[in-house]
Amino acid sequence: MIVTVATTNAAKVNELAAILSPKLELVLPAVDYRAPEEAGSTYVENARIKARALYAALGRSTLADDSGLEVDALGGQPGLHSARYGATAQQRNRRLLEALRGHAKGARLARFRTALVLLLDDSREIAVEGCREGEIAEAPRGTDGFGYDPIFVVPELGRTLAELTTHEKNGLSSRALAARALLAELLRLRR
Ligand code: IMP
Repeated sequence: MIVTVATTNAAKVNELAAILSPKLELVLPAVDYRAPEEAGSTYVENARIKARALYAALGRSTLADDSGLEVDALGGQPGLHSARYGATAQQRNRRLLEALRGHAKGARLARFRTALVLLLDDSREIAVEGCREGEIAEAPRGTDGFGYDPIFVVPELGRTLAELTTHEKNGLSSRALAARALLAELLRLRR
C-alpha cells in the first residue's frame, strides 16, 4: 500500500520507512506541502489534523506524525508547542538549555512523545503513540538526526539521539515505538 506522509522532513520518512516498509510504501507529498496549523490539544489530534488535510487534497491513504518534548523541570514544556519554541532547531535547543541552566542532572528528566495517525483508503483510521524517556544534556552533542536530537540523552547509552546511528535511533525512539505499534495494529486489522 502506498502511503503519503504529511511532512517535508525526509529524515522522518526514513525513520518510519525503516519499520513500516515493505508493509507500507511511504512517499513524500509530490505537491507543495504546507503543514496546517497544529490547533489540537493532544499529539494524536495534531497528527489527525495533518493526516486529514493531506487526505482531503490527495484522496489517498496518508500518514502523519506529531511529536513533542516534555521536560519535567519546565512543567512538561515545550510539549505540544515543541515546534514553536523558537524559529530554528538551534534556537529551540539553545532556549531549552538556557531554561535548564543550573538544574542538576536529576532535574533534567524529559520524554519524547510521538503520535502517528494513518488514514486508510477506505477512510478508516489507526492512531498510536510512542514514548521515550531520557534527559536533557548540558550542551548539544552529535551531528546525526534533527530537531532536539543533539540535546536529548538516552540514559542507558549515555549518548544523545544525535550521537546514534539511524539504526540505533530506530531501535529506541518514540517515533520508532509508535511505528511498531502501528505495524502491529495493521497486521491485526488485515488478519
Ligand atoms: P513535529 O510534531 O514533527 O512538528 O515536531 C515537533 C518538534 O519536535 C519540532 O521542533 C521537531 O523538530 C521536533 N522533533 C520531532 N521529531 C523529532 C525527533 O525524532 N528528534 C528530535 N526532534 C524531533
